[in-house]
Amino acid sequence: MAFKMVAVVGASGSLGKPIVQALLAAGFKVTAISRETSNSTFPDGVEVRRADLTSVEALTKAFAEQDVVVITVPAQESGNQNQYVDAAVAAGVKRFIPAEWGFNTRPGKLSPGLASVLGGKTKTVDYLLEQTKAHPSLTWTGIATGTFLDWGFDRGVYGINAATKIATIYDSGNEPLSASTLPFIAQSVVAVLQPQQRADQTANRYYDVVEQTFTQNELLRLFEEETGSAFAVTRVSTKDLARARDEKLAKGDPGAWVLALCLGTFADGCGQAVEEGDIANGELGLQGRGLRGIVRDYLRAKGA
Ligand SMILES: NC(=O)c1ccc[n+]([C@@H]2O[C@H](COP(=O)([O-])OP(=O)(O)OC[C@H]3O[C@@H](n4cnc5c(N)ncnc54)[C@H](OP(=O)(O)O)[C@@H]3O)[C@@H](O)[C@H]2O)c1
Repeated sequence: MAFKMVAVVGASGSLGKPIVQALLAAGFKVTAISRETSNSTFPDGVEVRRADLTSVEALTKAFAEQDVVVITVPAQESGNQNQYVDAAVAAGVKRFIPAEWGFNTRPGKLSPGLASVLGGKTKTVDYLLEQTKAHPSLTWTGIATGTFLDWGFDRGVYGINAATKIATIYDSGNEPLSASTLPFIAQSVVAVLQPQQRADQTANRYYDVVEQTFTQNELLRLFEEETGSAFAVTRVSTKDLARARDEKLAKGDPGAWVLALCLGTFADGCGQAVEEGDIANGELGLQGRGLRGIVRDYLRAKGA
């Protein structure tokens, strides 16, 4: 039977919003599962269920009648997803999509530096594998997407500031990295759930979807060409960042996250880019936009 009802936990967030839009556009009935204390608002047509997101009992009620549960809670909460898995089993949900949405966190894929901040995601998928084996009526699909592109431009993730025309380039700037825009990621969620034949194929599978693979230097060149300006470039050695990350990790400082992700994405030889043969875009019928068009649209929207 085709999936119809999709619950999204974190539906008001940076990623949750475009996923909800894409699901509605594809004809799914969407339920937003929102914190009891939240004032978030949702588009017309979305049912809202407020719940204690730490309670399996409350979540089981919130997931009633849902075919699919998609988790898009914030990164710092992504090590706390077991209660959603337990509630999905209890509520008779058929497909669970955990909060991966970034690096592939399967064993052996993360460097030790990244595992120190993303290990909670690995443990969640391990728990999901165990629970879906014990309760085969629940299936799962994991989606790794690389770094968020459009979202990252706004937050300085790529070290390129279109307003000030200043760029920070890590090491040589020639390390390839894989990344995806939020609309592309949202489309990947729809793609694993419909049509039904594909939804059957995507049961109990982990996918890497990638909209574009590029280097920081290539991205900087596009920003310079599209703005018609030369950017002032500062070069940073990631050896210094690694020292700062280790000091912050030792102190339990949450700033270690940003440094670990930066090192795992840009350091020479970090190997973040997904191998061409591992990218599932073709199998899922996904087509990414060109990087120049993505940069151009971003700059237009910013009036830069
Ligand atoms: N690869 C990348 O570059 C990248 C970048 C950013 C994020 N991500 C990943 O994307 C996923 C979603 O992140 P996001 O930035 O979109 O999240 P977000 O916008 O920070 O939050 C999503 C929603 O979760 C709910 N929420 C807030 N605090 C919460 C808490 N303490 N516990 C449970 N729910 C809470 C809120 O919804 P309500 O108010 O409705 O409850 C919020 O709107 C995460 O897995 C993150 O790791 C990846």
